[in-house]
Amino acid sequence: MFFRTPPRLSPGPTLSFVPIALLAVLFASGCAHSSDTEAAPAKVAPAAAATPGDAVAGEAVYLRICIVCHQYNGLGLPGAFPPLAGVSIVTAPDPGKIIRIVLHGLQGPVDVDGTTFNSIMPPPAPALSDQEAADVLSYVRNEWGNEAAPVTVEAVTAIRAQGTRATPWTWAELEKL
Ligand code: HEC
Repeated sequence: MFFRTPPRLSPGPTLSFVPIALLAVLFASGCAHSSDTEAAPAKVAPAAAATPGDAVAGEAVYLRICIVCHQYNGLGLPGAFPPLAGVSIVTAPDPGKIIRIVLHGLQGPVDVDGTTFNSIMPPPAPALSDQEAADVLSYVRNEWGNEAAPVTVEAVTAIRAQGTRATPWTWAELEKL
């Protein structure tokens, strides 16, 4: 009698593929695991303590120094002193420019939300302390409807440490920072 063996699917390629694939997976997971362990212990330095300016103390600074030009209502005087109320420069998320302005002054053309002023704001004399600068800027960022995060004393300290200036900033210089 002759029995014909039914055609068999060759198991060859499938069976040999499985262990290779398995090995590849094990190898890959092994690698991933070891690189995880290497990356893990990166230590993050604790954030430096931040001291937000005190807007109440800042009002007193404003009434002593800034009010002469920027006025009680923060609207300044048209053609002479720019407003601080409702002004995007004042409420910018990064207070770097306004910190520099109160430390060193500002001169030359500046576009204040569509109105150009071309005058000079001398640096306050005597100079504001880091605390006073943080306080007065925190006040102007939260007065007359302005709403922006207070300015920290540390931010003022860090910018003052970048150096003194013989002349007030120009807006062009501030924009390049
Ligand atoms: C002697 C007048 C005078 C005093 C005092 C003064 N400023 Fe100014 N301030 C100006 C002038 C003028 C400009 C516009 C300068 C320019 O044209 O480049 C200005 C510009 C500014 C600007 C940028 C423009 C804007 O409208 O946002 C800010 C912010 C600012 N002053 C904040 C202050 C703060 C805060 C104080 C108090 C610590 C102060 N100023 C004190 C006259 C003054």
